[in-house]
Amino acid sequence: MKTVTINNQVVPAIGIGTWHMGDDPAIEKQEINAIRAGLNAGAKVIDTAEMYGSGAVETLVGKAIQGYDRDHLYLISKVLPNNIAKTIEDHLDDSLKRLGTDYVDLYLYHWRGGAPLIETVTELERMQIKGKIKAWGVSNFDIDDMTELWDLPIGNKVAANEDLYNLGSRGIEYSLLGWQTDHNVPMIAYSPVGNADSLGANMTGNANVLKVAAAHNATAYQIILAWAIHRPQVLAIPKTAQPEHMTDNVAAMDITLSKAELALLDVAFPAPTRKLPLDIL
Ligand SMILES: NC(=O)c1ccc[n+]([C@@H]2O[C@H](COP(=O)([O-])OP(=O)(O)OC[C@H]3O[C@@H](n4cnc5c(N)ncnc54)[C@H](OP(=O)(O)O)[C@@H]3O)[C@@H](O)[C@H]2O)c1
Repeated sequence: MKTVTINNQVVPAIGIGTWHMGDDPAIEKQEINAIRAGLNAGAKVIDTAEMYGSGAVETLVGKAIQGYDRDHLYLISKVLPNNIAKTIEDHLDDSLKRLGTDYVDLYLYHWRGGAPLIETVTELERMQIKGKIKAWGVSNFDIDDMTELWDLPIGNKVAANEDLYNLGSRGIEYSLLGWQTDHNVPMIAYSPVGNADSLGANMTGNANVLKVAAAHNATAYQIILAWAIHRPQVLAIPKTAQPEHMTDNVAAMDITLSKAELALLDVAFPAPTRKLPLDIL
């Protein structure tokens, strides 16, 4: 099983995404079952945000984790960008209430807003010192944002960056991913299956992906996920509302791709040869 270490916490390299869960109350039970199927299959990380369903998804996650040992979960939530960093604690308190916990393991600044970065990270650091979060990080940051952050007085306490990354969207490999590896900042890959290929890469129908999948007796989704986490310190957080898909997704962290298979996937989806704009969903 592949793992990632975030702020000294070792977690399995596939976690559970939750965006757009809670959209349809008729399938709430199924979504809760899907999250539980992921936890029961060995996942620990659940990625959510105050933005998702305007809090409804945090409430759903809170229901799903009832009965699980909090110490064995790794909860990520995110604060919306704002112009006044001092409001972060109120947003965090609301998230904690919805999640039914007294801390989140990793609290991310969802994307850069108007408040000066130093004020925002100072406030995040204060939340960590207060014990309401175990670590803080950022999301949708590109290389310029990361280097700017790193140069701030407490910037190097950033525990992770969460960006869009999948086989069909490899732009961050040009400079950002290497920078994060060098600075030991884990990458949390969102939309790791390209939002079920809705982003247009057609990974799941690609002949090379299907060939590698056949060799592992795996699905195309599993190969795409195994690829997403094949580099050190990359965690993938696929979302699925289907318990069977969830079990398959989590099992992908046991698939190791050979050099030849990685090369075959590179042919179909080449690494970037120049800096590309950061993909954002
Ligand atoms: N930080 C940010 O700004 C940001 C932005 C976007 C997303 N995220 C996070 O990243 C998570 C994942 O990203 P995402 O939701 O955009 O996209 P994703 O995980 O790449 O794709 C989700 C889609 O793939 C389908 N799917 C997943 N596993 C499958 C499988 N094994 N077989 C068939 N279909 C499968 C799901 O459908 P079914 O439900 O029908 O299985 C769903 O439609 C989000 O949920 C969220 O937690 C963060």
